[in-house]
Amino acid sequence: MSWRVGAGAAIKARPMLLLMTIFTIFLGCQGIQSVGRASAVMPMGSPEDVNYAGQLWSVLEKERFVGANEVKLNPFVGAAKPHGWILELAYRNITVVRHTGFVVVKKNYDGPKLSVDDVKADRKKYLSSITVMFQREKGYDEDNKNWFWVKYKPDGGLFTKEINRKDVPLAGRIIKGKTREDNLGCIYCHSSAGGGDYIFYPQIIIPATGTEKAKTE
Ligand code: HEC
Repeated sequence: MSWRVGAGAAIKARPMLLLMTIFTIFLGCQGIQSVGRASAVMPMGSPEDVNYAGQLWSVLEKERFVGANEVKLNPFVGAAKPHGWILELAYRNITVVRHTGFVVVKKNYDGPKLSVDDVKADRKKYLSSITVMFQREKGYDEDNKNWFWVKYKPDGGLFTKEINRKDVPLAGRIIKGKTREDNLGCIYCHSSAGGGDYIFYPQIIIPATGTEKAKTE
């Protein structure tokens, strides 16, 4: 008897089950679609990227790379497009949200006939942007050595680039993709740096102490 009741209930439950299955599949497809869309069109400038850029900036302030208490660096003439005329460089390991990785901070100074002494006399006046590469955790962007790229304004705000009539913040995987326009981005240009680490200056050497190594020590 109990078997029959059970069977009846199962039969009655079936249309409901079918509906739920269809609904679950529908939800699943939506999920896949939005993930696909996010990674195809938004390899950079997503809310997560903007949030991460903010966290990175706070660490850069705390570690005195930038901000009111910044350590004064040695300006030199860079004169290479697209970066500044006079430059300053600082690099070492830092920890952002429990991940320790290598950061390269480049300050770009611009102005008419700008000299190293002008910059030394008034850094604030000539600082035009701060371009940063930070090596994130494994899996962030395995194709490109997991670099997080960002172009900050002097106050820590983000530069934007107009893509499809939308201003996209310059933070994240800039610009991961295969179209011609993507080739103007940090990743494409830095991939020609040699040595496979995306870094142009030969004196900048990434120490072998990332989070992965630190964990096993
Ligand atoms: C058209 C090529 C090109 C593009 C695009 C480009 N860079 Fe660079 N970058 C260079 C060159 C060349 C150097 C070395 C000379 C210099 O500093 O100007 C450099 C140096 C740097 C450095 C110092 C570390 C190193 O590679 O030696 C950082 C940090 C940096 N760029 C960040 C960025 C970021 C962030 C972006 C994107 C917002 C970007 N770059 C876009 C060419 C490029």
